[in-house]
Amino acid sequence: MKILLGVTGGIAAYKSLELTRLCIKAGHEVQVVMTAGAKEFIQPLSFQALSGHPVRDSLFDANQEAGMGHIELARWADQIVIAPASAETLAKLRLGRADDLLTTVCLATDRPIMLAPAMNRLMWSNQATQENVELLKQRGFTLLQPDSGEQACGEVGEGRMPEPQSIFEALQELQKRHFENQQAWSKLKELWTGKSLLVTAGPTYEDIDPVRFIGNRSSGKMGFSIADVAAKAGAKVTLIAGPVSLATPSGVERIDVRSAQQMFEVVQTHYAQADCFVGAAAVADFRPAQSQQQKIKKRAGLEQMTLELVKNPDIIAWVAQQDNKPFVVGFAAETENVVDYARSKLKSKHLDMICANQVGENQGFERDDNSLTVITANHQTTFPNSSKFQQAMALLQEAGQKF
Ligand SMILES: Cc1cc2nc3c(=O)[nH]c(=O)nc-3n(C[C@H](O)[C@H](O)[C@H](O)COP(=O)(O)O)c2cc1C
Repeated sequence: MKILLGVTGGIAAYKSLELTRLCIKAGHEVQVVMTAGAKEFIQPLSFQALSGHPVRDSLFDANQEAGMGHIELARWADQIVIAPASAETLAKLRLGRADDLLTTVCLATDRPIMLAPAMNRLMWSNQATQENVELLKQRGFTLLQPDSGEQACGEVGEGRMPEPQSIFEALQELQKRHFENQQAWSKLKELWTGKSLLVTAGPTYEDIDPVRFIGNRSSGKMGFSIADVAAKAGAKVTLIAGPVSLATPSGVERIDVRSAQQMFEVVQTHYAQADCFVGAAAVADFRPAQSQQQKIKKRAGLEQMTLELVKNPDIIAWVAQQDNKPFVVGFAAETENVVDYARSKLKSKHLDMICANQVGENQGFERDDNSLTVITANHQTTFPNSSKFQQAMALLQEAGQKF
């Protein structure tokens, strides 16, 4: 693989010579980009000798092809690793700054980037650095945890750069995952390009009066992730969303609804055009028999009140009963006996597939991660805990293969 190694201004810069050697020995090609800070610590010549390529350090280099070394390097690399990554460079990456070659390449690439931070323990634990690290992780950078121990400044604590061997192993692992991810996307595209998906997401709100409602804790994140992944895989996606505050994934047609009844009406007008229907919304089973026109007042002497509820339509069961039904995927969010309940729901509602989902304390609702068990009449598979986006990828792969 082609590895672009960024070296920034930290004491640990010398350790990256060993990292270069390990990569070359394993048959990888390495090009090194040094910041001005890095060159204060170590001579470019050492990297040049080990990598067999001149070290790149200048953004404005008229000798480069078309004068755009940053674009050429960004295209060249399969993988970028910055080791050591200084506090300064972490901050610049977080801000999206591009005032030197290394940070400009990082902005101009879609390749995986791994960071091996190395700094004094207080610089590392500083809230500013920690916030930068968190945000970079959320954006998809892979951050290696610094080691603990004696530091070059004489202090003891967390902030040492991991040993070159560990960085090298993490790099190999990242590349493997990147490759698997690419394979998963090409499979998803094969299955979903040109297909039509109708998906419901989020809770429903059943109004009691103009200010009160019965709702539930569904965040809508699972359904939105499914819509997002399907659209990225080339499907035509219609997303029917209950009341949630989530951004519409790009390329997705979104229809907002509030109550189960409204969701039902939109599903009725759209299901026939869909190849697949995923009911990820947490639809209220019951609604108040009457929604009051005016706010219900707390009257003196009123110690108790009874709210009469009536049954809502069962949207997913209705879709599954239609002659021209699409492939129907349901969700079963349960707090106990999840798989058993899901299996009986699959049968009783005549679904093609159901995703069993443990909810409750610290699981399922309002979270970014999840673990789904996907069940069909003759097959069951559990995806290990991961982000809802990853779960959506796995689920759409299963569903796509089945229809
Ligand atoms: C002797 C010395 C050692 C330093 N070691 C580190 C370090 O290990 N980690 C770090 O983040 N900054 C360290 N710094 C500070 C950085 O070199 C400085 O923030 C610089 O601006 C980093 O810029 P760069 O990321 O563009 O290389 C050190 C500075 C000096 C003078």
